[in-house]
Amino acid sequence: MSETFFVTTALPYANGPFHIGHIMEYIQADIWVRFERMQGHRVHFVGADDAHGAPIMLKAEAEGITPEQLVARIAAGRPRYLEGFHIAFDHWHSTHSGENFDLSQDIYRRLKAADLVYAKPIEQFFDPLKGMFLADRYIKGECPKCHAKDQYGDACEVCGSVYAPSELIEPYSALTGAKPVLKQSEHFFFRLSDPRCVGFLRQWLESPGHVQPQVANKAREWLDGAGEQALADWDISRDAPYFGIPIPDAPGKYFYVWLDAPIGYLASLKSYFESGKAREHGETRSFEQFLAAPDTRQVHFIGKDIIYFHTLFWPAMLHFAGAPYRAPDNVHVHGFITVSGAKMSKSRGTGISPLRYLELGMNPEWLRYYIAAKLNGNVEDLDFNPEDFLARVNSDLIGKYVNIASRAASFINRHFDGVIDYPGGTEALITRANLLLQQVRASYASREYSRAMREIMAFADELNQRFDARQPWVLAKNPAEREALQDSCAQALYGFKILTCLLAPVLPAVAERVARELFGLERPLTFADALEAPRHIRPYQHLMTRVDPQQLEALLEPPATPAPTADKTSAAAADSAAAATISIDTFKQVDLRVARIAAAEAVSGAEKLLRLTLDLGGEQRTVFAGIKAAYDPATLVGRLTVMVANLAPRKMKFGVSEGMVLAASGPQGGPFLLAPDSGAVPGMRIS
Ligand code: MSP
Ligand code: ZN
Repeated sequence: MSETFFVTTALPYANGPFHIGHIMEYIQADIWVRFERMQGHRVHFVGADDAHGAPIMLKAEAEGITPEQLVARIAAGRPRYLEGFHIAFDHWHSTHSGENFDLSQDIYRRLKAADLVYAKPIEQFFDPLKGMFLADRYIKGECPKCHAKDQYGDACEVCGSVYAPSELIEPYSALTGAKPVLKQSEHFFFRLSDPRCVGFLRQWLESPGHVQPQVANKAREWLDGAGEQALADWDISRDAPYFGIPIPDAPGKYFYVWLDAPIGYLASLKSYFESGKAREHGETRSFEQFLAAPDTRQVHFIGKDIIYFHTLFWPAMLHFAGAPYRAPDNVHVHGFITVSGAKMSKSRGTGISPLRYLELGMNPEWLRYYIAAKLNGNVEDLDFNPEDFLARVNSDLIGKYVNIASRAASFINRHFDGVIDYPGGTEALITRANLLLQQVRASYASREYSRAMREIMAFADELNQRFDARQPWVLAKNPAEREALQDSCAQALYGFKILTCLLAPVLPAVAERVARELFGLERPLTFADALEAPRHIRPYQHLMTRVDPQQLEALLEPPATPAPTADKTSAAAADSAAAATISIDTFKQVDLRVARIAAAEAVSGAEKLLRLTLDLGGEQRTVFAGIKAAYDPATLVGRLTVMVANLAPRKMKFGVSEGMVLAASGPQGGPFLLAPDSGAVPGMRIS
């Protein structure tokens, strides 16, 4: 029976580009989506940017742009990654959208009507300078236990103790340095501890298949917690200023970002329906009808750090909001990717840069295969190990998979004009294919991709061994062995077709080329194709190269020091050794000013430069800056930055540079343009 799926991945925060952890999650989900489609199911696969919250608001403010502009800049960068790694979302949207405002407010109203929301005053640190309540991560101070200085409001990085921000000694605001004051404010809470919620969640966690067993256990621990660990109600509101969705009938109050973020899954789906794209994919029902239908399967792929939100709040919110909303059918949780055993930062994502991977011309399907070969259906971390990557990809994909096609196809083309027949029959392979299909499909379905890859490669080994044992290169020299030559190559090519069908969810581009170029099929492969022995093969064209160790080295080495700017700034900045001391008077000779980037454009003929027009509050300057590799000019316009205003003008090939902008850079990356805190205006002197 054909089923209909609605599949999502976690919505990435819109405060930075994708890192390898995001790409890993998308590859996992994309393989599954492609697999289900090959099974004949209809799948709607949607994503969105998670736009709201204090970090994005503050980052935008620091850059002198609006949060909307920041989110738009990040969103503009998404397609390069998604297309680059063949991640085929049907739709990409944003939580800062009309659909999400409507859906979030609707769900909130329903929860309130169900008596699952209440208001309660709480006391919280407030930054009097900034006029803003401070989340724990924006408060620092001395650790009450070990007295380490400058520790965050929730935990000490030195001694590891956990505490409330009010316990910090001499707390200060990480935003302004001001001494925070305790202030009361009314917050809204979702009654997660309500017996109705707890009862429903227990039942939801128990019914098989909703979540992996380890995940259900974890969630049950939270539900069963007692004393200090008791399940708490959930604070769903934040006070202005906040970048988020206003709470109905509560002026100055916004939904906490984690309330509207998962609703963003539905917002993206709704926008996908309303844009007409769902109809193009054969879905004729309305968004509400589709969502409410009992045979729609709602599936989320997420990482292990956000289990709490997806196995407690989210199912409860949906269930108690009522039709058309329904609790998810599956929440699939994966572990984290590490690089050579090293953890990467969740937000910054060091390790390997997905964009650099693509820019180096590395094949995206290598990474897709490598991740597949290491992923199972449990919540286990996965390591990207460079030597392992090289060995695995070269031996499996080149040595076992594409080589067999290149060898067998050339004999069939040279000696038989491309015509394949099967003097030895096809029954053995069809039987094998049937069995293999059953195994591999079950492995894909349960996200046991590493098992699927092992099963597929074991078959590839068999094919290669049989091919080599018959020594077709010897048979080809003897006209009496023509039939044996045909048969050995025919078996190999049919086997290659089976392999291609089985690998298609992982290697969509290669599979598409094989189908079209070799077998002349002008449509995507299905699993049924594995049971059709090919009768003709076209000349083999090169399908995939080996991993080049030099590319891999380039991928792993720290990013090259940024291009020298017109004025040699970053060359100096890249030098991490501290410079000789200077007097304050010497420093004061440098006229540093706040400047607004009024215009930014690429310079034709200059690979690394952007021409910036800087507004100093009345006066304009032209400056050439070597930041093209790091910034898309369109996204710079409107930003505030810092410039040296009294640098002697320099005549360059492209024009005169009348100053320089300041940027940070080092082995970890860059250049990163400097920006003043909010409140600064163009022309202000910096000292
Ligand atoms: N915005 C929230 C999710 C809201 S969902 C309604 C968020 N964003 S995130 O950008 O920090 O993370 C997005 C996804 O990437 C999460 O599923 C997270 O687990 C995953 N990963 C982040 N780092 C990762 C690795 N190192 N490895 C694999 N996945 C990782 O959380
Ligand atoms: Zn401490």
